[in-house]
Amino acid sequence: MIPWEISINSQGETPSNGAPAATSELWTIKRLLSWTTDFFREHGAGQSRLDAEILLAEALNCPRIELYTRFDEEPPEAVRGVFRDWVARHAEGEPVAYLVGQKEFFSLKFQVTPEVLIPRPETEHLVTEAIDLIRESSAENVQVIDVGTGSGCVAIAICKHAPQAVMTACDISDSALDVARQNAQAHGVSERICFANSDLLTSVAQPARFDLIVSNPPYIGLSEKADLDKSVIDFEPHLALFSQGANGTETIQQLIEQAAQRLEKNGHLLFELSPMIAERCCSLIQEHPCFQFERLVKDLAGHARIVVAKRIA
Ligand SMILES: C[S@@+](CC[C@H](N)C(=O)[O-])C[C@H]1O[C@@H](n2cnc3c(N)ncnc32)[C@H](O)[C@@H]1O
Repeated sequence: MIPWEISINSQGETPSNGAPAATSELWTIKRLLSWTTDFFREHGAGQSRLDAEILLAEALNCPRIELYTRFDEEPPEAVRGVFRDWVARHAEGEPVAYLVGQKEFFSLKFQVTPEVLIPRPETEHLVTEAIDLIRESSAENVQVIDVGTGSGCVAIAICKHAPQAVMTACDISDSALDVARQNAQAHGVSERICFANSDLLTSVAQPARFDLIVSNPPYIGLSEKADLDKSVIDFEPHLALFSQGANGTETIQQLIEQAAQRLEKNGHLLFELSPMIAERCCSLIQEHPCFQFERLVKDLAGHARIVVAKRIA
């Protein structure tokens, strides 16, 4: 039961004499945050305080920092109603990003809908590696493709930080591509990105070869389905999560084969993976005659996350 449907005093009654209830009895911003943080903690829902703040700031349509200067204010009933609904849904597993319709990635805001994966902080390493490689190049234009673009977060973040990037972004999902196009527009880079519906690279005809192929492909094996959090399995698109087979490497294996055909010599393939499949994926690159394995990048938690490989033959 979420208790702030109506303004009540500590006896559970609405003040009848028209006088405002004492501040401590009102559902002030401070009290709403504190109650919700405990509620999320009890339900094991995400990062309880941060999530409570993001939801309340969005319901109030104000920056999160502003909550701290308005602690004693009681939000209007309509705002409390929206917040109440979101709190109940998040406690049941619905991700905060889908509730508020956005997520920050690489210090940029991205619109997200249930049609796209919620951008993850680990994927920022993919962007950093890509930007470093593009900046090392002396070429005026560097042909880059983001395979499985989803919300477009990787392609757009690269464009914002690497002016030489000439970007293609593809996805097999039309609804994901719609979201990616809107995000590109919002960030002022839609002129620099060519969007394509494609099964990996198969329907991307131009350019024939790329200098850089980046991808955060679906890499969860179908056999791992039962181990996933409810907030992931029940809400995020399965097309974005699951590789095409039991062990998680199937889509990556196809990507490696296609990249061998579509990379310029000395071009790079960067892809994200889970630590569980890192060893197998490194072997796929090391055993491939076209690739030289360069490095395995770890995320901030120390987990293997990004493979960097160069096409040598
Ligand atoms: C893990 S999500 C990554 C989304 C986004 N790049 C990110 O990092 O947040 C994988 C994306 O690949 C797309 N996808 C899945 N299978 C694909 C395929 N065979 N060809 C192209 N895209 C595919 C999904 O629709 C999804 O948007």
